[in-house]
Amino acid sequence: MAAREGELIRPAQPRDDEGAALLRIEGLSVSFPGRRGADTGERNVVRGLDLELHRGELLGVVGESGCGKTMAALSVMGLLPPPGRVTAGRVLLAGEELTSLSEGEMRRRRGSRVAMVFQEPMSALNPVFTVGFQVAEAVRAHRDLSRAEAKSEAVELLRRVSLPDPGRRARAYPHELSGGQRQRVMIAIALAGGPEVLLADEPTTALDVTVQAEILELLDGLRRDLGLAVLLITHDLAVVGQTCDRVVVMYAGQAVEEAPAAALFEAPAHPYSQALLASLPRLGRPVPRGELPVIAGRVPEPGGLPPGCAFHPRCPQVMEVCPQRPPETYDPGTGRAEGPAPRVRWARCFLHAPGLSAAERSPLVAAPAGPATAADSTDTAAPDEPR
Ligand SMILES: Nc1ncnc2c1ncn2[C@@H]1O[C@H](COP(=O)(O)OP(=O)(O)OP(=O)(O)O)[C@@H](O)[C@H]1O
Ligand SMILES: [Mg+2]
Repeated sequence: MAAREGELIRPAQPRDDEGAALLRIEGLSVSFPGRRGADTGERNVVRGLDLELHRGELLGVVGESGCGKTMAALSVMGLLPPPGRVTAGRVLLAGEELTSLSEGEMRRRRGSRVAMVFQEPMSALNPVFTVGFQVAEAVRAHRDLSRAEAKSEAVELLRRVSLPDPGRRARAYPHELSGGQRQRVMIAIALAGGPEVLLADEPTTALDVTVQAEILELLDGLRRDLGLAVLLITHDLAVVGQTCDRVVVMYAGQAVEEAPAAALFEAPAHPYSQALLASLPRLGRPVPRGELPVIAGRVPEPGGLPPGCAFHPRCPQVMEVCPQRPPETYDPGTGRAEGPAPRVRWARCFLHAPGLSAAERSPLVAAPAGPATAADSTDTAAPDEPR
């Protein structure tokens, strides 16, 4: 259903040829109220996010630190840290609206329908219990099994995540395992309730490149063998390129581009995606650990977004129209529909908008000073450390 160039399309449209999405996020907005007594306004950390994830699909969500990736995933889980709350939109899992469930109802779905591998595996494992015990407890939280049955189920789960010698390693404490092995344990815990959807939040960030690749292979195997739908959250476009079918690029709480991974790498349509791609380490160069793309300026604070397109103060292709109003999502006309992968392709950028006047299209020489960002192109952002 390739849209015409410049045609206005809504993100996350159901596709006739592939049936309904398993997980569907519609217009999701998440806010933190401003601190009482302080003059900081409401922080809109996720802004109208549309996203859909199909059974057996690996979808990458990529963007710099602070763009709202974790808050979006926590909203799906019903685990937003207070006082953060969903202010608009909804989350549907196999047609059921999760965002309207009571906490008790949500608790029954958490782990058994949708599970999450959290961003900080070190703090998520309890140092005083063996990993086998912790996986077994996760199993018992969902199924009525004896301790002995849960223990052998735990060993099976550890085998499924390819922990070497799972029977013996089950008796190890977290500190006795390597980072990659601990991440496998976290994935086993997430699988304990037999979920259909797995949200993996930066599952490879703390790991070295070889181990990263092994964990990505594991996730790929899980979606292939178990039909899991995997949402892979990362700040690293290289991770997405290795693994994902489709990518959503986020900036300042919004999705700014969605494309099949191959198409995004071939011809990124949004200047932010272009900058991310351009800053990927080239082949032959050693990959610096934890390095983030270097783009001039910084992600704006959610409490002080620039007017119009939130990226315009950092955008090398900024036009007169960009600060005037927020862009819609447009088909960039470069996506090619190939194979069974979803064919939705769009970018939230006026470069692809039809019907702009010559004045609107003219380059904006001096971008108006955004409330919270520097437009100084000589300002090289320090690589943000993953938290
Ligand atoms: N408890 C909180 N109170 C107020 N603001 C918060 C809170 N937690 C997160 N935020 C803000 O929400 C925004 C999005 O945060 P989020 O953790 O979703 O980013 P992220 O994309 O996951 O970043 P990273 O790559 O660093 O994990 C950030 O600006 C962050 O400062
Ligand atoms: Mg995060």
